[in-house]
Amino acid sequence: MSSAVGVLHPGEMGAAIGAVLVGAGHRVVWASRGRSRATRDRASAAGLEDLATPARVAAEADIVLSVCPPAAAMDTAVSLGAYSGVYVDANAVSPSTARAIATAVERAGATFVDGGIVGSPPSRPGDVRLYLSGGTAAGRVAALFETTAVDARVLGDSIGSASALKCGYAAWTKGTIALLLAVRRYARASGTEEALLGEWAESLPELEVRFERSAASARAKGWRWIAEMREIAAAFDAAGLPAGFHTAAAEVFAMPPPDVDGEAGGKARG
Ligand SMILES: NC(=O)c1ccc[n+]([C@@H]2O[C@H](COP(=O)([O-])OP(=O)(O)OC[C@H]3O[C@@H](n4cnc5c(N)ncnc54)[C@H](OP(=O)(O)O)[C@@H]3O)[C@@H](O)[C@H]2O)c1
Repeated sequence: MSSAVGVLHPGEMGAAIGAVLVGAGHRVVWASRGRSRATRDRASAAGLEDLATPARVAAEADIVLSVCPPAAAMDTAVSLGAYSGVYVDANAVSPSTARAIATAVERAGATFVDGGIVGSPPSRPGDVRLYLSGGTAAGRVAALFETTAVDARVLGDSIGSASALKCGYAAWTKGTIALLLAVRRYARASGTEEALLGEWAESLPELEVRFERSAASARAKGWRWIAEMREIAAAFDAAGLPAGFHTAAAEVFAMPPPDVDGEAGGKARG
């Protein structure tokens, strides 16, 4: 293995994190096999080196960051095959999914670090926090980001802590988005939408704008949040808490968000 950092895959967040690492002087590699034109273009714009396959990334990188849709987190880990470096799952998965991924990558020869990303794709300090947990390797990963726009924070040794932090954060941010979308749908279905909007304007004036922002986010990313809500439901269940909020949120994100002009619409991925 030479000294390189792998990013699987350069989506909106992964490409931005890769660009930050390139800016800090690291060689950053990725694998284009099976990926879309959009991902190829982002990777190229970020200055990442294409090694074509995850197996070649495993051969060249001593640290691999997995930044992909939560539903693909396990497959992405397994796609590396035999790997003796540090593997960071930075996806929005439950602590138990993180532990299952840890078992799989450790069986393949790697050291696992749990991760969770909170914020937006980094362009300046303060944009994003990368929470990490898992032994001394977590500190090695955090050190990659010193003096960069990614604020990497080690939460301790326990695999699952970083994922739990992300679950707790997104349980509120995306859970409340789902609730707002469901409330607006209910008002429309019951013929009280106009009256509810009037009441919002009078007593909860922030909600109309918040609804519009929520619907726009769900239109763009709701397809990915379905799996994330199920991961959060599993995390709540494992903690002995009701899982129903986020099971329902997953159902809400499986529907197109209601448009403000009254038509249910918007693509699930847009
Ligand atoms: N974007 C944000 O603001 C944000 C904020 C906080 C945390 N995150 C976390 O970052 C992770 C990725 O988010 P993102 O916004 O970067 O997503 P994204 O823009 O949709 O990118 C996802 C990347 O994963 C690839 N991918 C899609 N399906 C895959 C599959 N089945 N197997 C392997 N790779 C697949 C995509 O490749 P193709 O182009 O080929 O589909 C793309 O390169 C998520 O876990 C999310 O929770 C993102």
